[in-house]
Amino acid sequence: MTTPPSPTVAPANGRLGVLTVGLGAVASTLIAGVELVKRGASLPVGSLTQMDTIRLGKRTDHNSPMIKDFAPLASLDDIVWGAWDPFPDDAYVAATRAGVLEGGKHIEAISEALRDVRPMKAAFDRSYAKRIDADNTLGTVDKRTMLNAIREDINRFREEKQVDRVVMLWAASTEIFIEEGPAHQTIEAFNAAIDANDPTIAPSMLYAYAAILEGVPFANGAPNLTVDIPVLRELAIQHKVPISGKDFKTGQTLVKTVIGPMLRARMLGLAGWYSTNILGNRDGEVLDDPDNFKTKEESKLGVLEDILNPETFPGLYGNVYHKVRINYYPPRGDNKEGWDNIDIFGWLGYPMQLKIDFLCRDSILAAPLALDLILFSDLAQRAGLYGIQEWLSFYYKAPMTAPGLTPEHDLFVQLAKMKNTLRWMMGEEQITHLGREYYDV
Ligand SMILES: NC(=O)c1ccc[n+]([C@@H]2O[C@H](COP(=O)([O-])OP(=O)(O)OC[C@H]3O[C@@H](n4cnc5c(N)ncnc54)[C@H](O)[C@@H]3O)[C@@H](O)[C@H]2O)c1
Repeated sequence: MTTPPSPTVAPANGRLGVLTVGLGAVASTLIAGVELVKRGASLPVGSLTQMDTIRLGKRTDHNSPMIKDFAPLASLDDIVWGAWDPFPDDAYVAATRAGVLEGGKHIEAISEALRDVRPMKAAFDRSYAKRIDADNTLGTVDKRTMLNAIREDINRFREEKQVDRVVMLWAASTEIFIEEGPAHQTIEAFNAAIDANDPTIAPSMLYAYAAILEGVPFANGAPNLTVDIPVLRELAIQHKVPISGKDFKTGQTLVKTVIGPMLRARMLGLAGWYSTNILGNRDGEVLDDPDNFKTKEESKLGVLEDILNPETFPGLYGNVYHKVRINYYPPRGDNKEGWDNIDIFGWLGYPMQLKIDFLCRDSILAAPLALDLILFSDLAQRAGLYGIQEWLSFYYKAPMTAPGLTPEHDLFVQLAKMKNTLRWMMGEEQITHLGREYYDV
């Protein structure tokens, strides 16, 4: 197959508006972090757009510029923040409440910038996140009114903040589990369902729909279906809007998508994988509700099966017992602990075990992913890419793909895919790792 011609990428002129749906732990940690980095007060650790390089040409060329110098990404100085949340807290209060960052060190110094980010009234319905009880919302209004209000908010934000481009990021609570159904198939059915206040139209779908109609790239950091339904995938193509999702790949799944491919690469067998988490933030509280946990569970469980491909390797992976638990445990706050007990087997079936105890910080891991997704979604739009951005799979637990395609979960394949996409976008040669050029004379 021949590679399609590289696109022309428009420069990142002007200001980039970033609208986060949800101004909780992840969003406030993201905003505070970017504001600190802009002032030279911290390093953007974990962000590839800010810290990683990209190799161009042969290994012997020694040409590896920073990604941000290679691709025309928006500068952090040009970012302008906006948000929606049912809690009225501005980003200063949200960051303080979330308890992720140390106030004296990482909140006070940028308090003014944080105070400036005040959430707009959320298109919120408690039946999708029962544990959230707050009233900075549009109230009990019908879904069409919600959709129109979100569109108005986007346009008001554009005008008031004088931004040239906008990206929307879902960093709000995980909604209850919804299966793809008839209302999600066609534009007619979708609009009829909105008018009928059909329960299978979640608020997140209305945000995504509004974003697409307003030409705003949409990235989904949670496992909700949201933009991953036929009608919105199709509309994103029609309106030439980049979309991506689902669910930031931060802690346990990050580890799973490194260890899983390792077992598969070495043809080592897997008998069982037991993953359990304790966390005590608001996200953990929302996920304590079985209907919301089911959404997360689906996103976390799919990974291993896709990586290990039990149909092709029944002797190695045909009988895997895979369990994922999330336990709400308030004393830990945002500092999650994820335990993995992995029962594997080797030569002649002899059993072995791996134990991983990841004492991580949820939002500290998520914030750099959110930043990269914002900058890359904006880049994609300026490069004329639209619809599903599979090259951003690297950031997601349950990457969106074209219908019928198995998602690629292996972290390093995802990384290679992302960097090759950047090379292609900028008219550079792909790196295939064949490497004959070093030996063929
Ligand atoms: N932190 C991580 O490592 C991580 C990893 C993967 C996914 N996620 C997902 O990211 C999302 C955000 O996580 P968090 O830790 O910031 O959670 P959080 O509970 O601190 O913040 C979520 C915010 O969303 C708001 N919200 C709920 N419904 C809304 C709506 N309809 N409109 C606008 N705002 C709404 C809530 O009021 C809350 O303030 C969650 O869905 C979580 O599952 C987080």
